[in-house]
Amino acid sequence: MPPPRPRRTPHPPSRPHPPRPRTPRPSPHPHHHTGSRRRAGARRAVWRGPAPASGRPEATPAPQGNGTSLTELLDYVRRVAADAALVATLPLDPEGRTWSRLEGPGGSEAWLISWPPGTGTGWHDHGGSHGAFAIADGELIEQSLTPQLPTEGWKTLELAEGVERQRTLPRGDGRAFGPHHVHQVLNLSAQRHAISMHAYYPPLPLMRRYSRTGPVLRLEQVEHPGEWA
Ligand SMILES: [Fe+2]
Repeated sequence: MPPPRPRRTPHPPSRPHPPRPRTPRPSPHPHHHTGSRRRAGARRAVWRGPAPASGRPEATPAPQGNGTSLTELLDYVRRVAADAALVATLPLDPEGRTWSRLEGPGGSEAWLISWPPGTGTGWHDHGGSHGAFAIADGELIEQSLTPQLPTEGWKTLELAEGVERQRTLPRGDGRAFGPHHVHQVLNLSAQRHAISMHAYYPPLPLMRRYSRTGPVLRLEQVEHPGEWA
């Protein structure tokens, strides 16, 4: 694999947690909040699907007729995350995340990302792509919703109790997720950078951004590749 070309961004991601930067700027990274806002309408749906009792249903490798499976993506991100020499090529910036795009297996989209203390993505999905990520350094928190949410035809959802899960992912840990996965990823450390490797297949067609107020999940924005490429 050729070494990545490091890129830097002058600002951290603009998500509700941690606080938004004062001057959000467009960013090439799909996890960055950017682009035009598509306001949610007044329609309200209620999601009270049962939360899975246990396990990681969204992380179960599913057969993929074409393309790259969850297993392949997870193997790939773990392998890259363990490549200390490659990971060390990513410059760190105390003021914001940095990232480098890599060629993932089977035409997948892959990103090596650094997370300064206190940065995060905000709630989002992956536009129907499945994916995986692994921690190369430090520790990340993933907060996710356990139901497979219907992603079309609603603007706000009232979530049932117990549908949120939080995982602490230390160095070496990895996660795979299916096409309906909704989550946010955070570095809650007060002092330490984290670095993680991410891959998606198919390459992200769009990302939906959500806000969360108590049990209410609201669609705030839909981003397309032209807004981060
Ligand atoms: Fe994500």
